[in-house]
Amino acid sequence: MTRRKKLYEGKAKILYEGPEPGTIIQYFKDDATAFNAQKKATLEGKGVLNNKISEFIMTRLGAIGVTNHFIRRLSLREQLVREVEIIPLEVVCRNIVAGSLATRLGQEEGAPLPRSIVEFYLKDDKLGDPMVTEEHITAFNWATTQEIDDILAMTLRINDFLSGMFGAVGITLVDFKIEFGRVWEGEFSRVILADEISPDSCRLWDTATGNKLDKDRFRRDLGDVIESYAEVARRLGIMKDMPTVIQGGLH
Ligand SMILES: Nc1ncnc2c1ncn2[C@@H]1O[C@H](COP(=O)(O)OP(=O)(O)OP(=O)(O)O)[C@@H](O)[C@H]1O
Ligand SMILES: [Mg+2]
Repeated sequence: MTRRKKLYEGKAKILYEGPEPGTIIQYFKDDATAFNAQKKATLEGKGVLNNKISEFIMTRLGAIGVTNHFIRRLSLREQLVREVEIIPLEVVCRNIVAGSLATRLGQEEGAPLPRSIVEFYLKDDKLGDPMVTEEHITAFNWATTQEIDDILAMTLRINDFLSGMFGAVGITLVDFKIEFGRVWEGEFSRVILADEISPDSCRLWDTATGNKLDKDRFRRDLGDVIESYAEVARRLGIMKDMPTVIQGGLH
């Protein structure tokens, strides 16, 4: 037996070498961080919930033609994905004012936006993930104009689909963060959706009550973090796939 090779350990996930070339294993940890890792905690069960929720969302997106890295789930905390060359951008799409849009620009949290806004942030923890424009992105070769166009089109499509999917189960998709990567076919590359989509990376509000069902519960010390992630899984109809320890511990 040989131990598989760890490629990278991030704040929420660990990447291991996959069984075939061009694949990697994403292991979802229970660790939670916020405010550029100044606030940290372990939330038991978060990794299992996010693994399953991200699998569900990536599979649904794949079915409508949004190409993404998900291949299959391997275990409670692990999924096999296509290895990509990560584009060093956090792509944020917003439907309602919240978070940094409220604080930075003095806008009222909860105000609906007249149209969805897409923002780019440079993935660089040392710099605090600064916001960048398309001109910065092309000037410093983080992505090409064509790649930015593809990213924008895919992001708006993902937003439309996820807004409808969550809306149908009484959840308002306020905003979300996604990451993209390149896959190479000979000398050509294509941009696909990577990383994860989960309550760690989305703002999800209960449409009826306005209750937050996402990582803001952790950021703002609102309590019931895992219960809220589990509520998202329950509404999506995937709570039945969870191990009994998670189901039993929550309901
Ligand atoms: N398919 C993929 N191929 C290669 N890398 C990926 C893929 N999907 C996600 N990643 C990268 O794997 C890492 C996942 O770990 P995690 O989310 O814990 O990172 P993080 O702490 O948020 O830090 P950062 O994203 O700044 O590296 C991220 O760096 C992400 O960009
Ligand atoms: Mg991350």
